[in-house]
Amino acid sequence: MPAAVHLIDHPLVQHKLTLLRRKDTSTAEFRRLLGELSMLMAYDVTRHLPLREVDIETPVAPMRGRLIEGRKLVFVPVLRAGLGLLDGMLAVLPNARVGHIGLYRDETTLKPVQYYLRLPEHMPERDAIVVDPMLATGNSAVAALDLVKAAQPRSLRFVCLVSCPEGLANLQAQHPEVPVYTAAIDQRLNERSYIVPGLGDAGDRYFGTQS
Ligand code: URA
Repeated sequence: MPAAVHLIDHPLVQHKLTLLRRKDTSTAEFRRLLGELSMLMAYDVTRHLPLREVDIETPVAPMRGRLIEGRKLVFVPVLRAGLGLLDGMLAVLPNARVGHIGLYRDETTLKPVQYYLRLPEHMPERDAIVVDPMLATGNSAVAALDLVKAAQPRSLRFVCLVSCPEGLANLQAQHPEVPVYTAAIDQRLNERSYIVPGLGDAGDRYFGTQS
């Protein structure tokens, strides 16, 4: 039984995603919106995190509060577009660790090839969240999850902003136990493996490298 696909359909997320998708949204605006969206998505994606009890004093009385073990969390952006989701997530979880995965597509085999991998130590004690804004064919998400899974994190999740049926099917076939969080399941892939309607190339739009 495949793990759940969590559709984050909060009105704030849907509103900002619509503004982000527009083709005339500037690079500066795209960055700002993607930062806000990742903060909002972090809210849902971290719902499972364990809390530890701590004794504190308010100005009125002592009490027992609860804190997240932020240092046990690791965000793993898939380079380069995944970096666009990182700052917002770190803004709300500043103690989280960060790993990086670099993948490029081999133009002959069309398969993702790893060119960079750096994960923090002690992965079996950590909850890992792999982030990439677009789940298109799903091939790089599958490869990224293969790499993180090999490090045996305590838990593993995948977050994307926009997905499509093809990418979700691929991911669920290869990593059926990994929960997926997404703000949209779009119609399909086109012949160039772009999501339709999607938002274009997320990396180019975030870094301002589109022509
Ligand atoms: N990557 C993107 O940035 N956009 C798509 O539509 C598909 C893959």
